[in-house]
Amino acid sequence: MPQDLAPSGRKVFIKTYGCQMNVYDSERMSDVLTPMGFSETQTAEDADLVILNTCHIREKAAEKVYSELGRLRVLKEERAAKGLKTMIGVAGCVAQAEGEEIIRRAPVVDMVFGPQAYHRLPEFMAEAQRGTRGQVETDFPVEDKFDALPAAERKKTLARGRAAFLTVQEGCDKFCTFCVVPYTRGAEFSRPVQRIEAEARRLAEAGVREITLLGQNVNAFHGQGPDGADWPLGKLIRHLAKIDGIERIRYTTSHPRDMDAALIEAHGEVPELMPYLHLPVQSGSDRILEAMNRQHTAESYLRLIERIRAARPGIALSSDFIVGFPGETEADFEATLDLVREVNYAQAYSFKYSPRPGTPAAGEEEQLPEEVKSERLQRLQALLNEQQLVFNASCEGRIMKVLLDRRGRRQGQLVGRSPYLQSVVVSAPESVFGAIVPVKVLRGGANSLDGELVETAAAAE
Ligand code: SAH
Ligand code: SF4
Ligand code: F3S
Repeated sequence: MPQDLAPSGRKVFIKTYGCQMNVYDSERMSDVLTPMGFSETQTAEDADLVILNTCHIREKAAEKVYSELGRLRVLKEERAAKGLKTMIGVAGCVAQAEGEEIIRRAPVVDMVFGPQAYHRLPEFMAEAQRGTRGQVETDFPVEDKFDALPAAERKKTLARGRAAFLTVQEGCDKFCTFCVVPYTRGAEFSRPVQRIEAEARRLAEAGVREITLLGQNVNAFHGQGPDGADWPLGKLIRHLAKIDGIERIRYTTSHPRDMDAALIEAHGEVPELMPYLHLPVQSGSDRILEAMNRQHTAESYLRLIERIRAARPGIALSSDFIVGFPGETEADFEATLDLVREVNYAQAYSFKYSPRPGTPAAGEEEQLPEEVKSERLQRLQALLNEQQLVFNASCEGRIMKVLLDRRGRRQGQLVGRSPYLQSVVVSAPESVFGAIVPVKVLRGGANSLDGELVETAAAAE
């Protein structure tokens, strides 16, 4: 008989798929488990509890979960043969979308719970321990899960690095016709400003210097301010920028429809707000944008970019693209290439359209063949990669402030982020680890910059 989990000294392995909100949620799950005697491990082999925090955005993302569960089945049996018990949980957007189906397809799973239920993890574990196998908890409860989630200890926060995510908004009411997020994360919800501020202060006190405000639709933020009024994101950013220790602020992901004047102004006026904006456009064809229910045109997006660039000259722009949306013609696709040429992105993500069950576009008749999608993706990526390289190369010779928060592959190397979110590799002593230092860019490559530390900060951007 496998023994019960020991009350302390237990290990949890959390594997995170998908977007940054899942990264944030995984950290919160780990924080819930700490007082229960769990510490984190980086491999499933020595874990008493394995949690897959899953993503449902494209078919591939969802299928990865099932192949991982196949491996975990073998592992669970091997550990059981040694008298060790392993509990397996599936969290995140696949859990929310597929619920019971997961238990049916993968009986190895002990519990399934959606993104709004993480604070109840101890309860689910106790139930699973009692043998009520197959706990499924995917209702959207009304309470604020954030209130119920504990804050990480200072030491743990610091161990996670000098840059941290902070979820300010969840869910989406936009219903783009290709997207599962409104179904997996539910309706839009903004956290109250005071709670966000308290979390930001706690992070700053623990040594965090850069915060990225997260939301599936972050610029739709409208959390209640201390004055009782709803605050837009621009106002929240100005407020958080005043916190001692918070030197850099970013936010992601935005929708073009919600880029209001206050937010655009903040880009010009708040030095802590980094000169980088991820603003997904998806397509450059108005016909396709309409079919996607994006609620903007190529032209309105381009005008928006002009206003943002006027407010903050030199801002680096990023986007998401989908190629091969149902009914996309060669002319539609070329309109996307035209838009890319006109904007000139510093970096971008691009995907082949993946029909998702339950979304309107998945039911469209005119689905494109795989070869067409692949060929268009290649052409788009060639253009985007070229633009990224040009942008990185244009940084050569510039002095930028870099937050050195990771160790490089080679001895004596530290890696950090530039204001434009580029990875910068420098030879630097351990003493500057975690600091924001001026770095001269020596070389701009396809995916990163090489630089050297410089003595004077005066000229740094
Ligand atoms: N909240 C984000 C979206 C998160 S999903 C936003 O509104 O931008 C990230 C990206 O995945 C989307 O921007 C889109 O480009 C892509 N995506 C979403 N659904 C997809 C699908 N069905 N097929 C291919 N790509 C998809
Ligand atoms: Fe999905 Fe559109 Fe909402 Fe982004 S805005 S999460 S793409 S539905
Ligand atoms: Fe994926 Fe859910 Fe994020 S579907 S992209 S993990 S919101």
